[in-house]
Order: sequence, then C-alpha cells, then structure tokens
Amino acid sequence: MKKRYLVTAALPYANGPLHIGHLAGAYLPADIYVRYLRLMGKDVVFVCGSDEHGAAITVKARKEGITPQEIVDKYHVMLRDTFVDIGIHFDLYHRTSSPLHHKTSQDFFLKLLENGQFDEKESDQYYDPVAEQFLADRYIIGTCPNCANPDAYGDQCERCGTTLSPTELITPRSTLSGATPELRPTKHWYLKLDEHEAWLRTWINTGMVDGKLQHQPGSWKNHVVGQCNSWLDSGLQPRAMTRDLDWGVDVPQHIPGSAGKKLYVWLDAPIGYISATKQWAADHGKDWAPYWQSDDTGLVHFIGKDNIVFHCLIFPAILKAHGGFILPVNVPANQFLNLEGRKLSTSKNWAVWVHEYCADFKGQEDALRYNMIKNMPEQRDAEFTWKGFQETTNTELVNNLANFVHRVLVLTHKYYDGLVPEVDTNLAIRSGWNIEQVGYFDEELLLLHHKVEEMGKEIMQFNFREALRILMEISSAGNALLQFNEPWKTVKDSPEAVRVVLNLGLQFVAALSVACQPFMPFTSEKMRKMINLQSVSGSGELLFILNDLAEGNPILPANHAINTAEHLFTRIPDEVIQAQVARLEATDRTNQAESAAESVSAEEPAVAASVSYPELKEFIQYDDFANMDIRTGTIVAAEAVEKSKKLLKLQVDLGFETRTILSGIALHFRPESVVGQQVVVLANLAPRVMMGTTSAGMILMAEDSEGQLSFVAPPQGWPNGFGVK
Ligand code: MF3
Ligand code: ZN
Repeated sequence: MKKRYLVTAALPYANGPLHIGHLAGAYLPADIYVRYLRLMGKDVVFVCGSDEHGAAITVKARKEGITPQEIVDKYHVMLRDTFVDIGIHFDLYHRTSSPLHHKTSQDFFLKLLENGQFDEKESDQYYDPVAEQFLADRYIIGTCPNCANPDAYGDQCERCGTTLSPTELITPRSTLSGATPELRPTKHWYLKLDEHEAWLRTWINTGMVDGKLQHQPGSWKNHVVGQCNSWLDSGLQPRAMTRDLDWGVDVPQHIPGSAGKKLYVWLDAPIGYISATKQWAADHGKDWAPYWQSDDTGLVHFIGKDNIVFHCLIFPAILKAHGGFILPVNVPANQFLNLEGRKLSTSKNWAVWVHEYCADFKGQEDALRYNMIKNMPEQRDAEFTWKGFQETTNTELVNNLANFVHRVLVLTHKYYDGLVPEVDTNLAIRSGWNIEQVGYFDEELLLLHHKVEEMGKEIMQFNFREALRILMEISSAGNALLQFNEPWKTVKDSPEAVRVVLNLGLQFVAALSVACQPFMPFTSEKMRKMINLQSVSGSGELLFILNDLAEGNPILPANHAINTAEHLFTRIPDEVIQAQVARLEATDRTNQAESAAESVSAEEPAVAASVSYPELKEFIQYDDFANMDIRTGTIVAAEAVEKSKKLLKLQVDLGFETRTILSGIALHFRPESVVGQQVVVLANLAPRVMMGTTSAGMILMAEDSEGQLSFVAPPQGWPNGFGVK
C-alpha cells in the first residue's frame, strides 16, 4: 500500500466539448478510483487541466475563424464546467497556458539538455512558401500511398487508417494556402528514445526498474502491455521534442537556434500534470515534491488507449531522463466507447455531448454515470445506446436501487415515526424471525461488510464494472430482505421481527450511501440527506463503516431520526429516448447529405478501391416487371419479433390499407428508429407466414458492398399507396 497517491486524467484538448467517450475512457474511472481512495482515508491529489497547445488547437481555430487563444479560452471554461456538472471532481483543473506550466516545461527541457538526452539534428521538413511557415503534419494533405485517398493527412490516412509521415504523401499540398509545400532544412532537438528502449521493456514487462520491483507483473492491463510491446518490438526511434510553430511553449530563448521553435505538445502536455500539482500545492500551502518524487507515492495515469504510447513509453522516458521522478505504478487505459454502432466522432458530431446531457437530464447525472460504468470499455471496446441507457436507468436504478431505499424509508416512517427501530434479536427470534433464510442480525451485517470489501478490491484493480455489479448486489440483497420477510404483512403478528428487518434495511441504506459515492456522488448526497447524515466528504468514511460492520455494530444507531423519503431516480419514458435518437438521426442525415455533396463537387473522382459488384441477373421481359405491383408507403409501427434476430414486424401504411410486413432488417435498424420512414413496397408478393406472423409484401432496400442497408424511399411528403414504375 502506498502512503499517498497522485492520480491524473488525460488533459483534454481545449478544442471541443466533452463527449461520453472521454468520460468512459478516462475521467469516470479516475474519479471513481480517487473517490474510493479517499473513502479509505488515503492522501490523494487528483489533477487534470486543458491541453491548450498543438495542431489540435490551431486547426480548430482556423476552422472557426478565430484565434487559438479564443479557442482555448472558450473550451477551457466549457470543459471545466462540464466536469463539475457531471460530478468529476479534480483538486485542480489547470491549463497548459499558465505561466507556471510554461516555466515548468522549459525547465524540464533545459534539464534534459543538460543531461545530454537530446540529439540536435537538421532535417528536411515541408514549408509553405506562401504562408511562410513550416507545416505541422496535420496541415499537409495529399494522396495516400496506400489506398489513394486524395485527402490523407500528413500523419495519418483517415480512410485506411495507415500512419503516415508527410513525405510519404503523393502530391502534397498545404491546407493553409493550397500551395505545394517545399522541403527546407530545419534543426530540432530529438530525445534519444532508442537509448531508453531496454529499461522500458523490462519495466513494462516485469515491473523491475533500477533493481527495484516497481509494480507487480500482471497488474497492468493486457492490452496496455500488448500495445507497449508492439511499439518496443518495432524499435524506438529518436523523436523530435520541438516544432516550428507559433503556438505553444517557447524553446527557452537563450538557447542558440531557439527562434521560432516551440516544445512538441506531447513534451509539454504530460508535464502539465506536474505543473498542476505545483499549482495545487501553492494554493493549499502544501509541498508538491513528495507526490512526484517519493517512492511511497502511487502515481496512476488514467487515459484512453490512443494515449498509451505517450504515457507508458515517452513520458516515463522523459521522467527518467530528467531524473528524480517516480514512474507510474499503473496506467489503466481504457478502450473506446462506440455510440449506436458507430465510432464517436467530434467532427461528424456523432456523439452524446456531456453538457447537452446535463442540460437535458438535470438531476439525473448519475444515471449517465451509472450506464457509462456498467458499459465501461475496460478490456475491449464497448457501446452506448440510448435504449440501453433507458433500460439500465429504469430497471436497475429505479426498480432496484431507488425502490429499495424508498420502501425502507417509507416503512420506517409508517411504523416507527421515522426513528431507527430498536432491535432485540432474542425477542425477534421468538416472535418468528426466520433464522435459516436471512440469518442473524450480525450475519447480515457481516454480509454487508463482505460485499463492501469485495467491491473495494475490484476498484483497486480497476475493475469498475465488476465493482458496480457488487454494489448493486447490496441493493438487491436489501430488496430480497424486504420481499422475503414482507414486513407490511407481518407487522401485526411479529412486530419484533419487523423491527429487525427495517433496522437491517436502514443499515443497508446507510452502507449504500457511502459505498455508492465513488460511482454516483449525487445519489450518495441525496441518500445522506434522507437518512439525516452528513454528506460523504471523502475522509475515510468507508473505512469506519467497514470497522463497524466487522465488529457487528450497526452504522445507524437505534432511535436515529431519518428525514422524508424521496425518489432517487425517475423513470425515463420512451418519448425522451426517441427525441435523443431522433437528434442523432438528424445528425446522420446531415452528414450523409454533406458527404454526398462533397463527392459530387470533388475535382478528381476518388480512385475506387477494388470493389466487386454482384453479378447481373439474366434478362427478364417487360411483362415480368409489369407484373410487380410496387407502391409507396410509410412505416407507422415497428416491433422486434420474438426469437428472431433478423426480423422486424412493421405496420406499413399503403394509403388504401395498413399492412403487416416482416422485414429482415433488425440487425441494421432498431424498431423505434424506422417509425415514420417512407418506403417502397413490393405489394403483390404472395403472403408468407414467418415466425407465426403473416407477412404481406416486401420492403425494398438498397445494399452496398459492405452489406449495409438503406431504405429506398420517395421524396419526403410523397403520398402513400401510389405506384412505382
Ligand atoms: N490532449 C491529449 C488528447 O486529448 C491528451 C494529453 S494527455 C497529457 O489526446 F498527458 F499529455 F496531458
Ligand atoms: Zn489510405
């Protein structure tokens, strides 16, 4: 066990709002971990802040037509406020534009220089003769050498995913001026990463560094170790730590050749964790150094998988090259979260934006947190769907948790005027308390102890999904306690037993009010008010409870007065979900229209990748076609077909009648998303019985080379029931 912890969450680029992918990737797991450590009485500092440098910022500024400064000012505030609204609590949300950060990163650079960690090398890089500046990779586009995409970026082709360097592009052009860039020599400082390869490999794989076991082998996630090894296996190369840019941290001015040079954003950004800690310490009269330089500190970086190489190889190399700093004891990176079957995309607006969620679902912040944790992409990519969100909220939060808490409190008011009932176990047993089924009072408390302890173990191993499952088992066990004993029925005949049941129920609620706090801080707060206890501040509360429970002591003393019961969560109705889905679908339509428009206006047609088209069928005669009665219609209702993965049961308005048609599109469309869709129907196809339902007709669909389906539809508002010829 470490004496203190320094926990970081990836500094988000201040170039856009926060979406659920960020939340599930880094910020929620970090927040849960920190809250839990504090409940166990640990000394923790939790820092984050805006990453305000790099091409991510300047590209966005150009796009919005404002200065980089205006961009970072706008999004820094937005990000900071969104974190607060969704209950992610940092000790400091800093920013890399702060003077303290600039100074800290420059000092780092100088120390690396002094330690002989850099090679100064001249190389040829692309320069825009019209804009008169060197071009960052993202400012150069050209044809991908791999897939012939004409708009590949200098660092990556977004069509085929290949990592590129700008000089690999065929016919490169500058995005700043459109000019053809020319190669010009420029000098930069390269970190000799190759010299760090050996110790990094040993450290990642065995936990050993400088003759000390720094982390247990096997304690890092497999996919993290795997990614590191694949980088290490392809050999680490010296990497430039400076750039020719006008936005970022200056290379210290007194260094010869520093004019016009900035620190590489991936050098300065992680140092942002250190400058944030320094600022926090200065604000609170503390010393920052032990958090970064003392072996008994546990440093943990929470990130998404796209940041693994920087946090597991490059930043550790920088820390070691500097000297005097500890290395992370773990980097529990998460994989990606997808949204309704597709990759989240900021540029395509395919996202659930956290600030919009907070505005639309005020007071239900924890419902999103809960769903995110339940589907957290811990070991593999995971998926958010609005339907799934509705389901977890309504069944698990409303029916299980909120319902349990509400029942216990209401019954306590009803039978005991809102006072925790006193318990006499012996009397209870004599009056019918069923020992076999639910055990003694003490045993229930021990069970509670056991569950809370198990939950904590999982959190410490970064298994947040499992930890949440165990938390909910406490609530389920509480519900079972009520369900089995039915106090509302037995209160007349065995009042002593009912006192035990409700006293226990209240102990469960009290334990939950603390144990749920890392996951659902707002809910914890509400529960504490209801049971009339101080809010959980994160100063060892769970530790106290565990001690009490271990000794068989109740958490709430007899005769403690509780407050009135309120509902912790509200049911989310279908309309609300439909509105969110509709919003996404509108985004999708806009994207499709835009990309269609783009491909029409593109000067050169994209070189077609090798696609194989289905074979043409044999000739038919006109009459064969004329025999088909094809009509326009609109889907007015849709539902899943029981036991069928593929079929949806549709009601289709054909103007003159509404028909039932079974359509094999369930793997592509959710029922609620097709209602209102205009369609074209083969209306005289002989009826067929499938899965016990008669299907009268067929919906026409377009299919692409990847098997994606799209409705064939007349223009919007076209009347139903008329022919297609
Ligand atoms: N801004 C980067 C991103 O969004 C993350 C930076 S993490 C830090 O991918 F370590 F560099 F701070
Ligand atoms: Zn490509």
